[in-house]
Amino acid sequence: MTEPTYLRDTRDGYDKISADYAERFPTMRVDGPLGRAMLTAFAEPFQGAEGGPVVEVGSGAGRVTAFLHSLGVRVSGIDLSPAMVALARRSHPGLRFDEGSMTALDLQDGSLAGLLAWYSLIHVPPELHPGVLAEFHRVLAPGGRLLVAFQVGDEPLSFTEAWGHTVSLDFHRLSPDRVTDGLEKAGFVMEARLVREPSGDEKVPQAYLLAHRLV
Ligand SMILES: C[S@@+](CC[C@H](N)C(=O)[O-])C[C@H]1O[C@@H](n2cnc3c(N)ncnc32)[C@H](O)[C@@H]1O
Repeated sequence: MTEPTYLRDTRDGYDKISADYAERFPTMRVDGPLGRAMLTAFAEPFQGAEGGPVVEVGSGAGRVTAFLHSLGVRVSGIDLSPAMVALARRSHPGLRFDEGSMTALDLQDGSLAGLLAWYSLIHVPPELHPGVLAEFHRVLAPGGRLLVAFQVGDEPLSFTEAWGHTVSLDFHRLSPDRVTDGLEKAGFVMEARLVREPSGDEKVPQAYLLAHRLV
């Protein structure tokens, strides 16, 4: 089957910027205290040898996967971009990172206790979210937890140039109400929803939605 253009463009864009990403954000912290608080709340049931497995889809350079690991979670990462996967492996040699797309995960039905999409669902056009949320639902065990983070807004941010590279990268800002609606339609039960004001260089509010698969 032919790969959709948006997937090819996103992979190509991240492959091109991966080296700059590593150079510019060598020790990038994981968001602010509220983002870390949501990640910590998400992680709590999985901490310890019996917990998990948890997968971060769109794991990028691996900073969030590593943060969850530091909390004692059995976690690995999956990313569309081979260059980002290579960067994550170099940066976090003790952790597992695989290539793959959240649109068709190479994972068994019901095999995960938790799934994280931290600023990665933003690269899938919103009209295609029902298919991706159905995929998240498929790979999570009943009761399994999902945490999604995204920038809030209506208009996508589109880049044709990034750090001197020609790219075609869309960052879809999303509506917390619409994502919540999509999650409920896909068979998730909402647990918490945090929308915070922009801080630092951020231009728009940031949202964190925590849900679990209906048992
Ligand atoms: C903004 S970065 C976020 C990375 C990481 N979650 C973090 O917060 O540091 C988005 C990442 O999602 C990945 N991505 C985009 N679309 C994807 C897809 N369909 N499946 C898997 N990964 C994807 C990109 O390659 C990129 O590494």
